[in-house]
Amino acid sequence: MFKVHAIAPHRLPELLRVMPKAELHIHIEGSLEPELIFALAQRNGVTLPYADVEALRSAYAFSNLQSFLDLYYAGASVLLHEQDFYDMAWAYFEKAKADHVVRAELFFDPQTHTARGVGMDKVIGGLSRACRDAQTQLNISADLILCFLRHLSEDDALATLQEALPWREHFIGVGLDSSEVGHPPEKFARVFARAHELGLHVVAHAGEEGPPAYIWSALDVLKVERIDHGVQAIHDAALMKRLADEQTPLTVCPLSNLKLCVFKQLADHNLGQMLEAGLCVTINSDDPAYFGGYLNENYLQTFAALQLNAQQAYKLAANSIEASFAPEADKHRWMHELKLCFQGFSEQD
Ligand code: ADE
Ligand code: ZN
Repeated sequence: MFKVHAIAPHRLPELLRVMPKAELHIHIEGSLEPELIFALAQRNGVTLPYADVEALRSAYAFSNLQSFLDLYYAGASVLLHEQDFYDMAWAYFEKAKADHVVRAELFFDPQTHTARGVGMDKVIGGLSRACRDAQTQLNISADLILCFLRHLSEDDALATLQEALPWREHFIGVGLDSSEVGHPPEKFARVFARAHELGLHVVAHAGEEGPPAYIWSALDVLKVERIDHGVQAIHDAALMKRLADEQTPLTVCPLSNLKLCVFKQLADHNLGQMLEAGLCVTINSDDPAYFGGYLNENYLQTFAALQLNAQQAYKLAANSIEASFAPEADKHRWMHELKLCFQGFSEQD
């Protein structure tokens, strides 16, 4: 077990900033900043129902998940060409580099685009080209996870998976996102079984707003490897025990939970309690352009609000690396870099 030395509290923000980390829950369409939405709208001749960047940004006041999703899908309407998808992902990777992200697993929502007549080749082509360039130009390891929109039918999800198969080599897994309540994981049993057969990784949003029962069925019916969000598990002691025993990673997104009113204030967030209970918790940004911060901002604000320490910083970064779907050799190297980073900090004290 790696020993983490205490670090003076005033140096913790710098440690959080520079420690190597993985981001496992980022919807790439949720990284579209208002400036880029307007630039792409102009480039593509799309008319937006907002006068300017400021008017759009001032609409970012959400009361729940659905109020956000309505705006998020509207923002994605400016994406038409392969280059648009590339530019969106590249802007994210530049932010990720500044946050010392060594590994990023990007969710994308093909149905949001194919329903508007945008070809799957444009979507996956642009995103996967950006992932390749992230590796060669920024030394960020990046892969794609195709998400099904759970407010649509399972037949639509099955057709989407089939349509994406010519690009099978360009995504590593499938996920489940969009409006949670009323759309339980078991609605997607067949498409997830198919994904398993294809050797894809499988994850699902569960317990963001939905009940613990959705986390149980994501585990038991969909047989997911990670739970996205999962914060509602706190209301079910048996589930908490199972998640701790099985070390199922949870990709928690504190600023998202705050902006979507899952918690009234960040100080009320249960991330500290879940860590305390021995769950494999990670910190992620979800939709950073909409929720007020990229990955480091999530770490910084959460640590300040919950008064977390260096030991917990190490645990969260280590969890993110270990819970990633990267090759074992890469994980091993990043864990070594993480330890060196913490050692360097303790030696300066
Ligand atoms: N799609 C983008 N962000 C999401 C979230 N936080 N929950 C569900 N679906 C999403
Ligand atoms: Zn999400």
